[in-house]
Amino acid sequence: MGNIILTGDRPTGKLHLGHLVGSLRERVKLQDLGNYDEMYIEIADAQATTDNFGNIQKVKDNIIEVALDYLSCGIDPNKCTIFLQSEVPELSDLTFYYMNLVTVARLQRNPTVKQEIIYRDFNNTIPVGFMTYPISQAADITAFDANIIPVGDDQLPMIEQTREIVRSFNRLYGDTLVEPKAVLPQNEACHRLPGTDGQAKMSKSIGNCIYISDSREEVKKKVMSMYTDPNHIKIEDPGKTEGNPVFIYLEAFAEEKHFLEYFKNKETGEVEYKNLDELKAHYERGGLGDMKVKKFLFYVLDTTLEPIREKRKELENNIPEVYQILFDGSDKARKKAQDTLKKVKKAIGLDYRNDQELIQSTIEKYRNNNRQSEN
Ligand code: TRP
Repeated sequence: MGNIILTGDRPTGKLHLGHLVGSLRERVKLQDLGNYDEMYIEIADAQATTDNFGNIQKVKDNIIEVALDYLSCGIDPNKCTIFLQSEVPELSDLTFYYMNLVTVARLQRNPTVKQEIIYRDFNNTIPVGFMTYPISQAADITAFDANIIPVGDDQLPMIEQTREIVRSFNRLYGDTLVEPKAVLPQNEACHRLPGTDGQAKMSKSIGNCIYISDSREEVKKKVMSMYTDPNHIKIEDPGKTEGNPVFIYLEAFAEEKHFLEYFKNKETGEVEYKNLDELKAHYERGGLGDMKVKKFLFYVLDTTLEPIREKRKELENNIPEVYQILFDGSDKARKKAQDTLKKVKKAIGLDYRNDQELIQSTIEKYRNNNRQSEN
């Protein structure tokens, strides 16, 4: 069996820097390595309805935002099938059969879902659809025989649950589904980028995100007002780099070339800080001001985001083409999901049209019955 890569995002907002380092960059890397047979990226609009059923417009509007983010970051539709979940109804069929393999108690233990319930204030009003979305995510993954799932660490419980469903299914109905594996980014700082305010997570509602599509001015404003070490008051004070979002962002984004360019003295050719370790050491020792570090971070982010912004502008002038990419991808994805659904129904035994044995044995059953009653 070859390698099939699949990931997805809920289209509930524009993607931010956490998505860029946590998943988009990984996807582009995998895509360009080419060490796979098929690669899929799902825009999980159906999953997004499970907590936005009263605001479908938001989901609809963000499909294109997410697609623009993908394409401008370097996802190549010729190498990678981008599709819309709602365009592949076979996924709901699969979900329905997988539901029988999962207990309510198991769903209630899913730590990511638990967190989300608290965060959304669902209390006693948890929609069944929301509670069961991890099962639908198992359908997303198994429909494509995907074995490699590049995700952030908040998605690990979903992959674990998918693996359990695959094992239960295969045990009950014979070897049919492929067990997937999550792949996390190698750089630790990329696993979860904190918000600009130092909170653990970037969140649209808190307003502590830098978006991939933010303008240069927006990025600058957000970087300059970033939370740092609150005890680093005077420049001479020793500062903390651990847990300091400015340094975590540098960890995630700064490359050697950024240091060599930015800190190079034009006259002497000397480089003030050659790498992050040297910059950190000075900050920790004292004598390095927040402003200087933030200006460098802005330079790093701006250098990273500028080509993405340009690409996005181009795409924004070609919106019909972007929709077409999604529709073509959805058609292709649907064919594959149809094949899997056939395989799954056959394995379960719900394949009446092709089940000659069933028809034959039914014929015989009635023949015998009628013969007996004639006697
Ligand atoms: N739950 C994921 C998120 O919130 C989105 C998603 C849907 C997904 N289906 C998937 C991720 C399949 C990986 C694989 O971001």
